[in-house]
Amino acid sequence: MGSHILITGGCGFIGTNFILHLLAKYPSIRITNVDALTYAGNLENLKSIEQDTRYSFRNASIENLEGMQAIFNEVKPDVVVHFAAESHVDRSISDGRPFIISNVLGTQTLLDCAKAHGVSKFVHVSTDEVYGTLGEEGVFTEETPLTPNSPYSASKAGSDLVVRSYYETFHMPCVITRCSNNYGPYQFPEKLIPLMISKASQNLPLPVYGNGLNVRDWIHVSDHCHGVELAMLYGKPGEVYNLGGESERRNIDIVTQILKIMNKPDSLITYVQDRPGHDFRYAMGIDKARRELGFEPKYTFENGLKETVEWYLSQQEWLDSITSGEYRHYYDKHYGGQR
Ligand code: NAD
Ligand code: TYD
Repeated sequence: MGSHILITGGCGFIGTNFILHLLAKYPSIRITNVDALTYAGNLENLKSIEQDTRYSFRNASIENLEGMQAIFNEVKPDVVVHFAAESHVDRSISDGRPFIISNVLGTQTLLDCAKAHGVSKFVHVSTDEVYGTLGEEGVFTEETPLTPNSPYSASKAGSDLVVRSYYETFHMPCVITRCSNNYGPYQFPEKLIPLMISKASQNLPLPVYGNGLNVRDWIHVSDHCHGVELAMLYGKPGEVYNLGGESERRNIDIVTQILKIMNKPDSLITYVQDRPGHDFRYAMGIDKARRELGFEPKYTFENGLKETVEWYLSQQEWLDSITSGEYRHYYDKHYGGQR
């Protein structure tokens, strides 16, 4: 693949994995990573490819129209893969405003730039959370109505609808992927799995919301990256593709499994007040992606979780730099403070 791909949010968890995946796989690809370096963006994640001439980084906010226009004029990307977003439900409950600005306004700004420039594909990376919550039975399909319950998922649903409208109105070649909960290397330790690993490694209490019986469908980040790659290559404009790992687990079972892998006592588990509006269960029907994109998750949850725990334990420096906030100075140190 010789295309130039503009990736937003490449310093976050999934974006980092996606960039490393593409560069390893495609010798003549070019990538420009646009990231605002919010608290969730860690430029150091991509230290290993800083000198790679196929890759470049731009520190910019996607909702800044002039800034994004300048980047599009300079880079002239063939394809956009859009990951940048505020992504944590709990933060959206504390303050929803940045979610609307980055996720809704940011997506619309990016679409306008991509429309003016003309791209061959615009992949919008979204989430199963736009579908709301399930009871004990059933799975989300691409036809499930959007009934988001948190400010985060509402902002993602809003962005999905804006993307849809640019396909319907302007015939832009947009594709939407909706994926279930990811886990794996480089996830910010505010999300369930890395948070629990980090707490357990320090023998601190592990905060389980409510009764711990809420269910999520888990996918290893490398399987998600493969799904997004397939959507980028083969996704049909105007279509939505669900991606997931077909691995439903209760939160409490995951926490117990992490403690077991780490040889730590269950007494570290602490039940805390439930999250307001806490979605009970997510489960993804991935038949369409399987059939139309050839998508197939490779990881079993048990192997993926074990590998992930080992990764975090071997990356103590990375974890310490996140916990102390040191990672935020990386940009200034390496780019001489010029933003
Ligand atoms: P993340 O929070 O780890 O990373 C987000 C990245 O976007 C960060 O590098 C941040 O600096 C950047 N960013 C945020 N606002 C920006 C802005 N206004 N302009 C430019 N950059 C900005 O998120 P993630 O977990 O990697 O998720 C990536 C995408 O995948 C999101 O769109 C999210 O909704 C979606 N998604 C995530 C999951 C999951 O389990 N993590 C599941 C399904 C879908
Ligand atoms: P999270 O990783 O925040 O992802 P999402 O809310 O987008 O699914 O949370 C996953 C599940 O774990 C969710 O049901 C909330 C629960 N949870 C806890 O029980 N304790 C915690 O400290 C966190 C962060 C999440």
